[in-house]
Amino acid sequence: MKYTAVLVPGDGIGPEVASAALEILAAAKAPIDWVECLAGVAALEAGGKDLLPTATIEAIRKHGVALKGPCTTPVGGGFSSVNVAMRKTLDLYGAIRPVRSLNGVKTRFENVDLVVVRENTEGLYAGIENEITSGVVTSVKVATRVACLRIAEFAFRYAVHRNRKKVSVFHKANIMKLSDGMFIKCAREVHESKFQSIEYEELIIDAACMRLVQDPTRFDVLLMENLYGDVISDLCAGLVGGLGVVPGANLGEHCAIFEAVHGSAPDIAGKGVANPLAITMSAVMMLNYIAEKHSDTSLAAIATRIRTAYDRALVDGCKTRDLGGKLGTNEFAKAVIERL
Ligand code: NAI
Repeated sequence: MKYTAVLVPGDGIGPEVASAALEILAAAKAPIDWVECLAGVAALEAGGKDLLPTATIEAIRKHGVALKGPCTTPVGGGFSSVNVAMRKTLDLYGAIRPVRSLNGVKTRFENVDLVVVRENTEGLYAGIENEITSGVVTSVKVATRVACLRIAEFAFRYAVHRNRKKVSVFHKANIMKLSDGMFIKCAREVHESKFQSIEYEELIIDAACMRLVQDPTRFDVLLMENLYGDVISDLCAGLVGGLGVVPGANLGEHCAIFEAVHGSAPDIAGKGVANPLAITMSAVMMLNYIAEKHSDTSLAAIATRIRTAYDRALVDGCKTRDLGGKLGTNEFAKAVIERL
């Protein structure tokens, strides 16, 4: 079988790491035809008028899957996030970020194996802000029962499917009694009605952060709203080696976008030193997603081959600078290809 997927290279280090990932997939003979589409600053620089061209959204809708590099969002002003707009437009309501210790990448902890499940469409992260009067702004935190129930259902289904044992909800319902209050009520409801085989706990997010940095191995699936998920994902990345090694998926009912947790890293863009592993891992998640959808065991085997090859490369000491190594982006990709 051959499949078509959309490639959105993104901004900053996006094109460099995406091209390295594609080389690895091609060397592994992953049967993917890529349709390249633009988004973000790259779309404007190519002469377009829109940060998020309709053609890009339509292509993702049509083909159902995309691999995406990071898109830049200016701080404190300028345009709103293209990433948020994409997730909302395509209703990619569930983000999954698996965080696992890697042999060969030395960190404070061994055996970290957790998954951040993030609600992707609501919360403060929706960026609904108003200047009421000069010097006074408000930021609206949106929580709907529908979205809280569906993300809870999503997290528990994921836990069952992946044979995981526990879901921990991070919240601040002691202060945000209505919005986070609804989030935990919905999670409880879903747990009690359908998923009692999965262990369930609720933690106030500040204390949860302390526990995470003290002993991340006590966690399994973490469920939280949008902004908390954004912050906790980076914290968790720091537990296993940093942003260069954590992949992600944004999933909806009809399509999916796979992208690393990291951003466009303007400080190292264009230097050929970025770690392509996170986007390669995201591409492996994409292959597994397609394989599962089409019951394609040979595609799943290709995904496993790529994963085994990059795991091996790390064990052999092939590492980019963010992991304490010396390899550039393309050299690391070459090291993975040699081990396929
Ligand atoms: P960032 O993730 O781009 O960078 C944070 C630090 O991690 C930097 O020092 C960077 O060099 C390093 N880093 C990140 N990825 C790396 C990689 N693959 N290899 C080696 N080092 C890596 O976060 P920052 O600086 O907060 O954001 C930069 C831009 O990216 C902003 O415009 C932000 O809005 C955007 N962004 C986009 C995301 C997306 O498209 N999904 C996600 C996060 C941020």
